[in-house]
Amino acid sequence: MRSSNTLVLLLLVSAIAIVIHPYFVAPQGGLSPEFIRWHVYVVNGLSNNTTLFLHCKSKDDDLGVQNLSAGTNFTWSFQQNIFRRTLFWCYVSKDDNAHAAFKVFWQDVLLFHKCSWKNCIWTAKDDGIYIKDLARDLDEFRGKWEP
Ligand SMILES: *[C@@H]1O[C@H](CO)[C@@H](O)[C@H](O)[C@H]1NC(C)=O
Ligand SMILES: *[C@@H]1O[C@H](CO)[C@@H](O)[C@H](O)[C@H]1NC(C)=O
Ligand SMILES: *[C@@H]1O[C@H](CO)[C@@H](O)[C@H](O)[C@H]1NC(C)=O
Ligand SMILES: *[C@@H]1O[C@H](CO)[C@@H](O)[C@H](O)[C@H]1NC(C)=O
Repeated sequence: MRSSNTLVLLLLVSAIAIVIHPYFVAPQGGLSPEFIRWHVYVVNGLSNNTTLFLHCKSKDDDLGVQNLSAGTNFTWSFQQNIFRRTLFWCYVSKDDNAHAAFKVFWQDVLLFHKCSWKNCIWTAKDDGIYIKDLARDLDEFRGKWEP
């Protein structure tokens, strides 16, 4: 689908959802998504005191290069705006040059549920990248390291 079509569809669905039932769009508090403040975390869950190299971006923001020591995290927050369709992605690598690139925030109701409409928590572990499903309180595997 072309992106302009996607946007029109998204706006239509949002408008209908807001009119019919505000809680459909955002279960907590009933606000529409543009008023939600989202927090994204990228956690270094690597063993053996391994440093995680991290670089996260959106189309408009470069969050800079980070060296995260084991057990620490990098976090930022922003207001969701349905007209700008916020998308953040991160590039990560670890000491042995294994690397991964993945989206950490995008327009996706399934993602929003995993984040409990507030906190998207990504963890880099020895075997790959995980997202926390907050409702079920477990880390869900999302992708392997690439050599
Ligand atoms: C961590 O270090 C131990 C001891 O050197 C090693 O056996 C193990 O494979 C290392 N784990 C990883 C994930 O590198
Ligand atoms: C872990 O790494 C940090 C910096 O990379 C270092 O300062 C610290 O002493 C290390 N800790 C252990 C237990 O090796
Ligand atoms: C991160 O670590 C790498 C390798 O040690 C180093 O080349 C780089 O300058 C560091 N970057 C920052 C922002 O500290
Ligand atoms: C991120 O780091 C802060 C400061 O150490 C800590 O309080 C917080 O629990 C961490 N969050 C996650 C999701 O790991």
